[in-house]
Amino acid sequence: TRVALVFGGRSTEHAISAVSAGSILAALDPDEYEVVPVGITRAGQWVLTSGDPAELAISDRRLPEITAETGASVVLPADPTRELMVLDPADGPRALAGVDVVFPALHGAYGEDGTIQGMLEMAGIPYVGANVFASAAAMDKEFTKKLAAAEGIPVGSYAVLRAGTTLSEADKERLGLPVFVKPSRAGSSYGITKVSDWAELDVAVAEARQIDPKVLVEAAIVGREVECGVLEGEAGGAPEASLLAEVRVVADHEFYDFEAKYLDDSCEYDVPANLPERVTRQIQEYACRTFTALDCAGLGRVDFFVTPELDVYLNEINTMPGFTPTSMFPRMWAATGLEYPKLVSRLIRTALR
Ligand code: DAL
Ligand code: MG
Repeated sequence: TRVALVFGGRSTEHAISAVSAGSILAALDPDEYEVVPVGITRAGQWVLTSGDPAELAISDRRLPEITAETGASVVLPADPTRELMVLDPADGPRALAGVDVVFPALHGAYGEDGTIQGMLEMAGIPYVGANVFASAAAMDKEFTKKLAAAEGIPVGSYAVLRAGTTLSEADKERLGLPVFVKPSRAGSSYGITKVSDWAELDVAVAEARQIDPKVLVEAAIVGREVECGVLEGEAGGAPEASLLAEVRVVADHEFYDFEAKYLDDSCEYDVPANLPERVTRQIQEYACRTFTALDCAGLGRVDFFVTPELDVYLNEINTMPGFTPTSMFPRMWAATGLEYPKLVSRLIRTALR
């Protein structure tokens, strides 16, 4: 099977996508898959890279970067005979000619939001993961909440600040402090600030707006962070939920931010999460229902908060969750009995069905 693995891209999560791709590359069995490793630079150029997972790792807190000069920035392509192919964004689909399936290991805008999915639909190329609508809906935290709430899944209180608008006094009163200020369409905690004093709000909103003109202000839910992996049913049946994971930020961070996610050892993970059976089942059920409510396909990681009273609130869903060495999605599935290479094969098989 010829698989184009596409990574990097134009979003703030460029580097994390490259790290995800490095892990996926290492897990693809070369006897089974011929991989075409396509990097996309931050400027949107498509580059055929060496496909060496070592170039796509975080080393010494340095994040990988896809560039038109080297493919990946850490070292030059390992195989010097391999010619680097740089294409215009408009030639993107041509780079994919002749592949059986595309694995868009892209996080955030121009990758996880329906844009590349639309291009692949137009070109008639099968791909791993959610379709155009589900990708766009799940990328946008406003619409995720609206669709999930319509399905009866509890979501926390929030306000939407569209471009040019500010938080009303009534909303301040309603949400209370602290709040989390987030770009509506982003990931890996980029642009998120915890605000504990209204005097800090404007700066936080301005920061989030550097990523997305639409900003969410969410009431903080005091509780535990619990995640659930979902896979599309094997034979088109009901989606399946993994064992749950709890992320515990143990040192020096106000919340599960970018540093904690990828750069230091401040988190501990419990897989499976230590929760009563009833709550576990409730979260798995909400996760599958959220997946179905948004018309997701392939995979999703659904993130929740669990209060001390064991009430459950949906935080968000990721249609292309992180596949980095510290990411929860592959870890939860491994704990559930699906090892990393088998997980990747299943995703490709599902896409080709
Ligand atoms: N957005 C990051 C990659 C995640 O959800 O894991
Ligand atoms: Mg996310």
